[in-house]
Amino acid sequence: MAEAKLIDGKALAAGLRQRVGKGVTYLIANGGPTPGLATVLVGADPASQVYVRSKGKLAAELGMVNFDHRLSEQTSEAELLALIDELNDDARVHGILVQLPLPKHIDTAHVLLAVDPAKDVDGFHPLNVGRLGSSAPGAPLDFPVPCTPLGVSMLLHETLGSLTGRHAVVIGRSNLVGRPVAQLLLRADCTVTSAHSRTRDLPALCRQADILVAAIGRPQFVRGRWIKPGASVIDVGINRILAEEGMSPLVGDVAFAEALPVAGHLTPVPGGVGPMTVACLMFNTWQAARRSSGLAVNAAEQPHLPVGLGESAKGKGAIRPWSNHGVRLEPAGGQ
Ligand code: GUN
Repeated sequence: MAEAKLIDGKALAAGLRQRVGKGVTYLIANGGPTPGLATVLVGADPASQVYVRSKGKLAAELGMVNFDHRLSEQTSEAELLALIDELNDDARVHGILVQLPLPKHIDTAHVLLAVDPAKDVDGFHPLNVGRLGSSAPGAPLDFPVPCTPLGVSMLLHETLGSLTGRHAVVIGRSNLVGRPVAQLLLRADCTVTSAHSRTRDLPALCRQADILVAAIGRPQFVRGRWIKPGASVIDVGINRILAEEGMSPLVGDVAFAEALPVAGHLTPVPGGVGPMTVACLMFNTWQAARRSSGLAVNAAEQPHLPVGLGESAKGKGAIRPWSNHGVRLEPAGGQ
């Protein structure tokens, strides 16, 4: 059996970043705003600091403005909510990202609810969660969708084209990843099974999957013998493990070496889903700014957009559901 083809998330993320950069230039050239991303970090968790820094840096590289807010671990919920109110009212800010997890004394649900849904570039506000859950297959996603799930969906569409009729098993039911991945795949016409810690005979279920998404947060949990030969395996896990000689490599939720001879396509860790997440955040921020301006995307910009493979939403088959996130392809000023 041939080895799985690796899905190059780094390369695909680079392409997406480039499209966003061109889109930002186009938006500004056409009288739109310079997209502004506010990043908010409470506390000093080292991993969160790295993530927030890289988000701010990339936003600046793509021609956006980053408003970086670092708050102490002792910040009260009321103080954080007051900052979010300010950012909601600030016309220079089109996207607000509150890095999670928050310190234990702050109620995450209160914070997510406080963010203006139009600026919710994480897609975590209940209104946007509900929009994703009730959006029809093929309809434009003209609201923010959580970044990691959006990246997973893009990788799958880029690799497989239409996902129609495929059985997708999503392991993990978190609000950040598992649930929104399942929703995106459902609206891409997959048959979706959401598996979790209480699922019976998980290996047998996984063996039925044409698409297997592992988002559990347990290192090398999914074994090679769980995978259906030829399946597309997306590994969302990023786990640091202790190895020999004090090394602590990053590994995914899938036992990579075991999966390689069985799967048809496989994302590496690192270099698979990870780079897509931050690129999708840039995509969401750009789109939030464009929506706020009321500008449609001009047809001239079309080559730079992640447009579909020519299949129509009107019945010829599935379009890539991420192909038109609020992006109308008629000239600006069109209907
Ligand atoms: N922490 C881990 N992943 C994420 C994410 O996608 N968004 C935010 N805001 N925090 C996170």
